[in-house]
Amino acid sequence: MRKGMFALAAVGLLAAGSTAACGGDDDTTSSGSGSTSTVGKVGVILPDTASSQRWGSDDPKFLKAAFDAAGVTVDIQNAQGDKSQFQTIADGMISSGVKVLMIVNLDSGTGKAVLDKATAAGIATIDYDRLTLNGGAKYYVSFDNTAVGKLQGEGLVKCLTDMKASKPVVAELNGSPTDNNATLFAQGYDGVLNPLYTSGEYVKGPNQSVPDWDNAQAATIFEQMLTQNSKIKGVLAANDGLGNAVISVLKKQSLNGKVPVTGQDATVQGLQNILSGDQCMTVYKAIKQEAEAAADLAIALAKGETKSVTQSVTDPESKATVPAVLLTPKAIYKESVKDVVADGFVTKDQICTGDFAKLCTDNGVS
Ligand code: BGC
Repeated sequence: MRKGMFALAAVGLLAAGSTAACGGDDDTTSSGSGSTSTVGKVGVILPDTASSQRWGSDDPKFLKAAFDAAGVTVDIQNAQGDKSQFQTIADGMISSGVKVLMIVNLDSGTGKAVLDKATAAGIATIDYDRLTLNGGAKYYVSFDNTAVGKLQGEGLVKCLTDMKASKPVVAELNGSPTDNNATLFAQGYDGVLNPLYTSGEYVKGPNQSVPDWDNAQAATIFEQMLTQNSKIKGVLAANDGLGNAVISVLKKQSLNGKVPVTGQDATVQGLQNILSGDQCMTVYKAIKQEAEAAADLAIALAKGETKSVTQSVTDPESKATVPAVLLTPKAIYKESVKDVVADGFVTKDQICTGDFAKLCTDNGVS
C-alpha cells in the first residue's frame, strides 16, 4: 500500500515535470504564431464514436480547425463510451496543465466529478452540447434542444398527415436517460404529440428510452414494440442512429417507407434513408457553428479573458444560471437534403453513392 502510494507520488512528480516542459513547448508554438506567450492549452473530451457519427468525424474536425486557426494548442480525445476512460483522460489533461477543459459528458454524475476536479485545479470548464447537471461549468454551448424535439414532433405529424394516416399509433424511442439533451428533445416532441394523444387524433403507443443511445439495443427494443403492437404507424426516434435501427426492423417486415421515422444529426446514413423514403426527416444542427462558438469561448478563457454571452440556461438540479450559447436547429426533409450539402456539412460524394445517385439527381442534390 505504502509502496503504491510512493509510486503514485513519483508519477505525479514526473507528470508535473513534463507539464512544465509541455508548457514551455506550447509557449514557443504560440509565440511563433504571433499570439501571446501566456495562452494556455485546451483539453476536449468527446463521449463515444457509436451513438452518432458526429463525435467521430464532425466535432473533432471542426473543433481542431477552430483552435488551429487561432494558434491555440488543443488536445481532443474520445472516451469511447467508457466512463472510467473518460475520467482517466480528464486526469491526464488536468495533470498536463490544460487551462480550459471542455467536455461532452457520458452522464451527469461522472461529468460532474471531472468538472469538480478541474475547477479545484483552477481550470475553467465548458459543457459542450450536453449540460452536466449540477456540474457548475462556466459556459454551456449547444443547440436549443427543446426546439430540436419540437421539429421532430412536427416532422412526424407532417409525414403522417402526408400519408393521410388516421388515428395513428405512435411509438417513441427516446435517447439515453442519462443525457439531459434526451430529456429536452422529449419535452419538445411530447409538447407536439401529447395534445394529439389527448384529443384522440393520435394513439399513444409504446415509449422507451435507449440506454447510452445504443443502436443495437434500439433495434431489439423496437422489435419488441412491433411484436407487441403491430399497429404502430409512426415512430419518433430521437436521432438518426436510433431511426436507422427502427428502419432495419421495419425492413424485415417490408414496412419501411410505410411507417414514418424521425431522426437527428443529418448523418450520411440518415440523409440516405430520407432520400430512399425510409426516413421521414432529420434535424440538422450546424456543428461547425457549435464547435466555433465553443472554441471561441475556450480560446478567450485560455488567454485569461472572459467573454460575455447573451443567453443562459437554468441547471434543473442546482438551479444555477449557466451562461450559454444555444444555436438554432433546422428540419430536413427529402426536398431539403440538398441544403445540408450546400452548407458543406456533408458532400454529394458521401451521399450520392450507388443507388442514391439517381435519388440525388431527382431531389436536386448537386
Ligand atoms: C446530441 C445528439 C446525438 C446524441 C447521441 C446528444 O446529446 O445532442 O446530437 O445524436 O447525443 O450521441
